Amino acid sequence: LAGPITITRETFRTCRPGTWGGIPSDCCPPKLIKGPIVDFCPTFDASKPLRVRKALQCLSGHELETYTRKLERGYALMRALPDSDPRSFKRQNAIHCAYGTGSFVQDGSTNLTIDIHLNWLFLPWHRMFVYFHERILQKLLGDPEFSLHFWNFDNSVTATPRHGSHGCYKAGHFMPPIYSDPSKATFEPNRSSKAFEPNRPVDLSLDLSQRVPLSAPIPPFPNRTLEEQTRRNREVMHRSVITLGNTTSFIGKPYRVGDTRVIIPATGAGTIERWPHNTLHVWIGGWMLQPITAPIDPIFYPFHANMERLWSVWRKLGYGHDDPTDPDWLDATFLFWDENAVMRRVKVRDFLDLNALGYRYEEVNDASWIFFD
Ligand code: C2O
Repeated sequence: LAGPITITRETFRTCRPGTWGGIPSDCCPPKLIKGPIVDFCPTFDASKPLRVRKALQCLSGHELETYTRKLERGYALMRALPDSDPRSFKRQNAIHCAYGTGSFVQDGSTNLTIDIHLNWLFLPWHRMFVYFHERILQKLLGDPEFSLHFWNFDNSVTATPRHGSHGCYKAGHFMPPIYSDPSKATFEPNRSSKAFEPNRPVDLSLDLSQRVPLSAPIPPFPNRTLEEQTRRNREVMHRSVITLGNTTSFIGKPYRVGDTRVIIPATGAGTIERWPHNTLHVWIGGWMLQPITAPIDPIFYPFHANMERLWSVWRKLGYGHDDPTDPDWLDATFLFWDENAVMRRVKVRDFLDLNALGYRYEEVNDASWIFFD
């Protein structure tokens, strides 16, 4: 038995409560998908400028004010949608939970479950998830040009040349202030205390992915100087993306029909999923600690935007940094509700070219960890 993992109406119908690391989940979407399932197929429109997802730390002045206002309004509207609406903030967490806790069973099987973590589905699935989330925000704001800017957490460079009018003089490795302001709909109080210290850079190195049980307490984060921490983070990035970053080790291990979902040990995860992804989930803490609840913290979305940006950075490095060509990866198929609450059928192969999806990432300085020695 083999073939691409494929989510169908039947997969929704047979959804059942799942688990993650021994913690039970109960987040199945409605078993009956109402209405048609419409194939999603991106088409490159050369007449339209690409939208730009920008680095949050580089926004300033009027641009920052406008963005903050829009983001805040978008999330307030999303949180106000009823739970019956698949576009609601709560339901978006639930769909990530169903995909990430083995709630979906492979069609025709009774015990083989599906997971979009710790294997080669991780990067494309999360790109899709953020993409539809952004479209929902666009729709709620009535602004089809709205872009979800990214948290450039790997960036420790204080002077980043920026295309356009002005430079960017802030490092990206602190928690973005828009997401730490208690008066905003983008705030979440349930985080580790480290995430609230204004001048503390993230720690990308604390790897707890092999801890057993996964619900065990998190050990305290070491106190490091800014300089020590920065060096360590660059080393982590260099290792994940460059040193260990050949196709299989970076993207994650194959996961096809017939394969068993394995959480411990987390050996199916690509280097980028283990560090900085899993390590940063742990550093932020709170809801972000596990997939049942992670997107309850709105930081999840700009964090994952940067994750997929890093995938593009890796691809641009050239030889040996190529996406898999295996059809079981390319044809893996998922279902997502779009901004009109219509169910869309989405394939990995359609989420590999950002231009076709209509956006790009602002250029930032990645050289400090790319050329780390
Ligand atoms: Cu589905 Cu950052 O996790």
